[in-house]
Formats: sequence, structure tokens, C-alpha cells
Amino acid sequence: MLHVNENYSKIQASYLFTEIAHRVAAHQSANPDAKIIRLGIGDVTEPLCDAVVKAMHKAVDDEATRKDFHGYGPEQGYAFLREKAAKVDFQDRGIDIAADEIFVSDGAKCDCGNIQELFGNDVKIAVGDPVYPVYVDTNVMAGRTGANDGGRYSGLVYLTCDASNGFVPGPELAEGADIVYLCYPNNPTGAVATKEQLQKWVDWANANKSLILFDAAYEAFIRTPGIPHSIYECEGARSCAIEFRSYSKTAGFTGVRCGYTVVPKGLVAYAKDGSPVELRPMWTRRQTTKFNGASYITQRGAEAIYSPEGQAQTKATIDFYLENGRLMKEALSALGYDVTGGGNSPYLWVNVKGDSWEFFDKLLKKANVVTTPGAGFGRAGEGYIRISSFNSRENVLEAVERLRNVL
Ligand code: MLT
Repeated sequence: MLHVNENYSKIQASYLFTEIAHRVAAHQSANPDAKIIRLGIGDVTEPLCDAVVKAMHKAVDDEATRKDFHGYGPEQGYAFLREKAAKVDFQDRGIDIAADEIFVSDGAKCDCGNIQELFGNDVKIAVGDPVYPVYVDTNVMAGRTGANDGGRYSGLVYLTCDASNGFVPGPELAEGADIVYLCYPNNPTGAVATKEQLQKWVDWANANKSLILFDAAYEAFIRTPGIPHSIYECEGARSCAIEFRSYSKTAGFTGVRCGYTVVPKGLVAYAKDGSPVELRPMWTRRQTTKFNGASYITQRGAEAIYSPEGQAQTKATIDFYLENGRLMKEALSALGYDVTGGGNSPYLWVNVKGDSWEFFDKLLKKANVVTTPGAGFGRAGEGYIRISSFNSRENVLEAVERLRNVL
């Protein structure tokens, strides 16, 4: 008999953002004239910058000639992109990461899920609560958890992120964990971790032979000097951390799809007999077997982000989104709400002092504004909503006006 992967029956029927999309679609169809403003899923709204567009046009022209045509690319990514990423994202900041430790992909979400193929099914996973659902759901699908009981899966270690720890939990909560997912600037809370806080995690991981999976998808939003952009800014991180980078929010690539994963040389996990096994060759093997690379056109576009024009233009767009966040944070604070995030992140995490799905429904139905209910990110997200800063200024100002009227 053909059996299904029963682990799928443990996860919620639909992915958080799919559930929200269904509710929004139902509201729109019942109110066809409603002008809905979407501040839910963190999807960019501003067009690709000029430097990227020009590079992609040029790449299309390359593909139109026999001389410059590209078929299958290297599965790890083209050297032209890996070298720029290594230099600008790491070496220019004094961080020791080489081009051959960078693996280009079609985005951080896929890599966050795929990376766990390298590890045994019995490893103990720690995740934040609230958390980006991908870290949890992919491990549930792989069978690393028991059932969901009251919003938490048995078998997972949950690191509660709340106001009492400034939304940055420490390693004292991660006892027994082999792998911990950390994400800073954080999705969903928008919190950032200091170097001292991250160093504690690195020291803990090295002492316990554990691994940090560090999601740095939002690093380009950091504006406060001294806040780490990479886990590798911490001493000893090369021997205990893998880092995910994304061009989605950095350069408006949510639809283009490109990111990369850093797997340092010498980083190991252990075989059953205790012998160390290097992860970088394993990831190389996994990618060469199951992935054919991001397209040449896409990677030429990503390369252009690192040109002086690309750096200035992408920074201007991120500054624009950060200003959206500032305007909304100011308005919500004036209305008496405690708001975390913004400033170094595109997300605002708002304490709504009540049920988060009810608050979500109220804003949707009364203000035609879509947010994300905190409970969708985990039990500790109850009582909060997440607001994304990705939208036009016109819509953000309109949303602020509507929130003032409804709240
Ligand atoms: C979010 O809204 O949390 C993100 O856009 C989801 C993602 O990056 O996959």
C-alpha cells in the first residue's frame, strides 16, 4: 500500500501566510470595493533598482548570443557572485569568509528547509517562540517532532522571546539542543541582538558541539552601529554556525529569487561513532545532486547589488521602508500601543493587549488593513500582531489614518 508521510498530519492544514491570504480573499470578495492595504506578509513593493535592472537586461542580451550564452551554471553559484558576496558582505567588514564557502541558491527559505537533510533525525532542535514558521514546519515534516499540543510540538525546545528578555532569549533556555535557529534582525519581532548576546550563543554552541543556523535575511536593515550583520562577527562562529543570506528584502528579490548560504570550511557534525564529519562537502554534494543553481540572469542581477550604484540604490530603498516603519511606529505608540522592532528591521511587533486573530480580523474588517496575527508565529506570539513596513508611502499614510480611526 502507498503510505503518505504521516508527519504532514501533525502540521497546521495551511501555511500561515496562505491562511491569511484566504481570509483576505474572502473579505475582498464580500466587499469588492474595499481598498485593502497589505501589511501582512513581508513582500516588497518597490521595483528593482536601476543597477540590477541594467545588469539583468545585459544578461538577457548575453543569453541571446552563441558566444555569451550560458547553459547549466555551477550548482554552487557563479564565481562572479560568490566573490563579490564574500568581499562586500564579509571581508570588507573584517570577517573571515571565502568565496568557496558561499553557496548561491534561489532563496533563504529553501535553504533553511533543505539544510536539515544533513542531520540525523534524532537531533534536538531549538526554535524561538514566536518564530518564522519555516524552521518549525520543515522539521515537523521531517519527523523530528511529536504531536502539536496547544500550539507547541513535543520534542522541540522552545526559546520564549518576550518583553522580559527583550525578545532575545539566551542559551540558558536551549539545554539539550543540538541545533538552534537564530534570526536577527528577527522575524517576526523585529528585535536585534547585540554582539555580546550572539557571542554567548556561539560560546554555548562550541562548548556543547551544537550548531547555530543563523538567518541573516534582514541584516541590510541594520542601522545601529555595532549591531552584528553576521554571526561570523563573533569569535569562534566559524566552527559552530551556518548563515543564510537573502536578496529578497535586501534588494527586492522576493519574486526574482536569489540568496546564499555560508558553510565554513572545517565546520563539522558527528557520526554515530563520534567521529567528525565536515558539513561543507556534504552541502556541496546535496546541492550538486538536487539543485541546478539560480539562473545566470538572476545571478548577474544579484552581482549588481554589490556595485557602488547598487549599494547606494538598495540602501535608499531600505531607508524608504524603514521610514514607513518609523511613521507607523510613531502613530501606534501615540495611540498607546507598545511597539518593538522597526529602526533596524522592516517589522513592527505590536502588543495588542488581547487575542491576536481577533485583532487581525478587526483591522481587516474595519480598516481594510492586513497584518499578521502573532499567534500564527507561535504560542508566545499571542497578544501581538506583526506589521510589515513593505508598502508605498501613500498606502502607509493611508493605513496610519485608518488605524487612528479604528483604534
Ligand atoms: C514573512 O512575511 O515572514 C516573510 O516574507 C516570509 C518569507 O520571507 O518567506
